Amino acid sequence: MAESSKLFDLGTIAIHAGEGPDPTTGAQNTPIYQTATFALPDASEQVKQPSGQPQGYFYTREGNPTTAVIEAKIAALEGAESAVASASGMGVISAALLTTLNPGDHLVCSDAIYPISQDFITSELPRLGIDVDMVDITDLDAVSNAIRPETGAILTEFLSNPDLAVADLPALGKITRDARARLIVDNTFATPYLLRPLEHGADIVLHSATKYISGHGDAVAGVAAGPDEMIRPMRRFIARYGSPISPFNAWLLIRGTKTLHLRMDRHCENASALARHLHQHAGVQRVMYPGLSDHPGHKLCSSLTDDRFGGMLSIELSGGEVACQRFAGRLQLALRAVSLGDVATLVLPWAGRNLVRVSVGVEGINDLIADFDQALAGA
Ligand SMILES: Cc1ncc(COP(=O)(O)O)c(C=O)c1O
Repeated sequence: MAESSKLFDLGTIAIHAGEGPDPTTGAQNTPIYQTATFALPDASEQVKQPSGQPQGYFYTREGNPTTAVIEAKIAALEGAESAVASASGMGVISAALLTTLNPGDHLVCSDAIYPISQDFITSELPRLGIDVDMVDITDLDAVSNAIRPETGAILTEFLSNPDLAVADLPALGKITRDARARLIVDNTFATPYLLRPLEHGADIVLHSATKYISGHGDAVAGVAAGPDEMIRPMRRFIARYGSPISPFNAWLLIRGTKTLHLRMDRHCENASALARHLHQHAGVQRVMYPGLSDHPGHKLCSSLTDDRFGGMLSIELSGGEVACQRFAGRLQLALRAVSLGDVATLVLPWAGRNLVRVSVGVEGINDLIADFDQALAGA
């Protein structure tokens, strides 16, 4: 498919971008190039890159044709010049931060992000001489006040994990540009189906592709997209630090991505119906879902995503943390597990809080509501 992806619907891009029939066999689907190495051209003809390495494919840590297809697909879906894949979401988060920031630089980071991202940022960055301020990213004055002359980047999730706070990307983009810094957005919860952060001021967009991009809970992977000048150093970082995606996992992402639009339609529909149902349930104290009009980020989310609110919600129960544990233990269809963005519904009681995070799957909504009702009745 031609890469002028703006001309096409997201579903068309998801299915066709980055691939066509295999040039050697005509196979409709991209083969899994399950190989560590590739035959080098004749030494006398070998064209070298400035790094001294051969051009083209030569070793899968550095590049692989199956991986190249998912990278092209993600670039097209995010409207980016370039994209890179890694062995996990943490692989692209670390690559994005450590290629953007240098010792002496400063990071402004949302204080409501995935706990392991937070752990990486607060444990690893200071060790490398990079200062960090964690702020409430929905408080734009707090963000502006945290900016210093040495601020190199702002990092946020568009929809935060697990509170579903909505980041004002256009406003954060302006603050970042004024500071001559970079805006890095983790778009794992929203996916390009809800919005393309690069169109709203982000410099790099990244995903735990383990989640909605794969969609089936069968691969751990990460992808990032942005301008070539920012993705190229990330690619070198991922090769040097040894965190490339495997060809098989790249292929699983290719297959998963082809139905992203269909799955996201149903995730959004189910989450919206479940959120509305739980909102009026006596056992539920609060529902955090940006699609509900009482959510503080509802209007902002609605304006940025064209009224698509995703498949994630969190709930607080009237019976507190103990009830959350009991509720999660009584569910029969939904599975108590970490991770999210799976076709199956996954619930996670959040340690130390009266909060259950729900990754709403694509099952029949009446079955899900019945399962939640029976579990709440016993909680
Ligand atoms: C929002 C978000 N970002 C990043 C990550 C890390 O991704 P991975 O587990 O693929 O390393 C996660 C994992 O749950 C996540 O939820």
